[in-house]
Amino acid sequence: MRKQIAAANWKMNLTWQQGKQLLEEILAADISLRKDQLAIFGVPAPYLGLAEGIVSPRPQYAIAAQNCYDKKSGAFTGEIAAGMLQSIGINYCIIGHSERREYFGESNQMLAEKLDRCLENSVVPIFCCGEALQVREAGTQNEFVEKQLEESLFHLTAEQLKSVVIAYEPIWAIGTGKTASTDQAQEMHACVREVLARKYSAAVASEISILYGGSVKAGNAKDLFGCPDVDGGLVGGASLVASDFIAIIRALK
Ligand code: PGA
Repeated sequence: MRKQIAAANWKMNLTWQQGKQLLEEILAADISLRKDQLAIFGVPAPYLGLAEGIVSPRPQYAIAAQNCYDKKSGAFTGEIAAGMLQSIGINYCIIGHSERREYFGESNQMLAEKLDRCLENSVVPIFCCGEALQVREAGTQNEFVEKQLEESLFHLTAEQLKSVVIAYEPIWAIGTGKTASTDQAQEMHACVREVLARKYSAAVASEISILYGGSVKAGNAKDLFGCPDVDGGLVGGASLVASDFIAIIRALK
């Protein structure tokens, strides 16, 4: 059965003192999660080891990096290798967030390499895809997202793909307060699953967790996560407030 996941993306926010307090408040809520439910915190790189130390006693909670580099090692000052993440017990990494694509010029091809580095090191990639507003307005969002999947994921074997989490994040909904409707989310998630089923198989596609991201809030999480093909969310702004993210974790189906 595929996992239901509430993933926080802190982005470049919070001091470690604030982040630690946030994690501790969320863990103190003692939310009972089933084996197929997970809460993941995408924290800034300097906090990875510290945050892992806090969540590690709780099996349904995990820490994710927000990025890694596409090379294995070497003279790349300031970059972080997937193998380094693995060596400090970090098992998840957000890959290809739209902010990285936009501000750091990450292409589908580069992201394909990053996925390989993660998978070689048993780091589960949370692969982000999603269209900008002008693509949505032109009505070509399905083709756009299909191309992102094709160019970054389709070189993977079925076994490798099963270790990937996908996050569909329409760029027009990120940080804007403009959430996709449940119909829009379900339609795209079904489309992603259908693209994977065509390339791999329906059985493989049915095992992939597909998260929705873009202005997920405490008040809309239950409806979004209730869609048959939505397996949780990737959450920015609302993941910075303990009570909001607790409600979002509790909204997992
Ligand atoms: P948001 O961000 O929840 O603040 O819209 C989501 C994301 O960028 O992952």
